[in-house]
Amino acid sequence: MASLSMKSVRKSYGAVEVIKGVDLDIADGEFVVFVGPSGCGKSTLLRMVAGLEEITAGTMEIGGRVVNDLEPKDRGIAMVFQSYALYPHKTVYDNMAFGLHIAKAPRAEVDAKVRKAAEILKLEPYLDRLPKQLSGGQRQRVAIGRAIVRNPEVFLFDEPLSNLDAALRVNTRAEIAKLHRDLGATMIYVTHDQVEAMTLADKIVVLEGGYAQQIGTPMELYHTPANLFVAGFIGSPKMNYIEVTVAGVSTDGVKVAAPDIGEALLPIDPGKAAVGDRATLGIRPEDMRHGKTDGITVSGNVELVERLGHETLVEITTTNGLDLKGIIDGTTLISLGDTTDLSFAAASCHLFDSAGKAFTRREVPEVVRARRGT
Ligand SMILES: Nc1ncnc2c1ncn2[C@@H]1O[C@H](COP(=O)(O)OP(=O)(O)OP(=O)(O)O)[C@@H](O)[C@H]1O
Ligand SMILES: [Mg+2]
Repeated sequence: MASLSMKSVRKSYGAVEVIKGVDLDIADGEFVVFVGPSGCGKSTLLRMVAGLEEITAGTMEIGGRVVNDLEPKDRGIAMVFQSYALYPHKTVYDNMAFGLHIAKAPRAEVDAKVRKAAEILKLEPYLDRLPKQLSGGQRQRVAIGRAIVRNPEVFLFDEPLSNLDAALRVNTRAEIAKLHRDLGATMIYVTHDQVEAMTLADKIVVLEGGYAQQIGTPMELYHTPANLFVAGFIGSPKMNYIEVTVAGVSTDGVKVAAPDIGEALLPIDPGKAAVGDRATLGIRPEDMRHGKTDGITVSGNVELVERLGHETLVEITTTNGLDLKGIIDGTTLISLGDTTDLSFAAASCHLFDSAGKAFTRREVPEVVRARRGT
């Protein structure tokens, strides 16, 4: 097992810079997820760890050793890809054993490693089958098994579940989490699925525009996103945004004003905010209540009702044309075309300056405060 460290890591393809300087420390045994929209550079960064892409600038260390110029096979890593590309004419056993045979490992050692991996992945009943006789999830497990037998210091996964159907994805996700607990290995996992990121990660790296927009625990990213991009990316449905003007700044917080909400005092550190500044208030749909139950109320026409059972997603449009989503109790009577109120607490609000950078929230939940030591 090994720690990993990136310092000002950059990647250019010709004149185009794709990774513009990423600093990241990964502790031994940590599960780190790279997440971000398509094309943001997740696979590129992972392939730079693997040694499959040259590092244009900066340093990459694995286990305290600079690996910039090391061949992939000398880096102590194993990679599992989205397309698992098993050898179609080899059995499950031989697919897992192949790399070890090539490396001229003794037969008894190969056998022990393959059987151990099969046990961990519950593949024992399938060792004599060919890949075409397996389900997608079983094939993906064989691909993971090929990585396990190599006993790598660092496991790299690039969207390993995206070919699986929804139910199998949830199952295999749980298996990967268990594998991480059992092996205690360092893992880096790429996905564009924020639910996978939230559920698997010790630490999430949100990539966008060539930069790490924020690095933190899932709860830190959810409760204290550093900017509008992270706020919008983590959480589903997306956070609602309301354009506001700063109407007052005091030791109590920031008073904001907007046509749809009137004036509201938010428990937020004013920082450099000044009266008259434009800002964006962020409120998550799940922090909305039906009716005037919480401090700040918005009224509008119900444009969408999605009943999910224990909760209902509603979207309203205010008289000023603002669309807002709320997740409310599933038993609430509400219909398309109704005029209704949604409300939310000042303490649930996020605030971002005109450049999109978050102001510091004062009332963050215990899970986040405890980690920060504040
Ligand atoms: N060989 C290459 N030459 C030029 N540009 C490339 C090359 N490989 C990737 N890119 C560009 O680098 C950017 C990052 O690509 P990358 O594959 O890392 O994205 P990603 O975040 O993994 O996206 P996805 O979620 O779609 O897999 C993209 O804009 C892509 O077009
Ligand atoms: Mg990719």
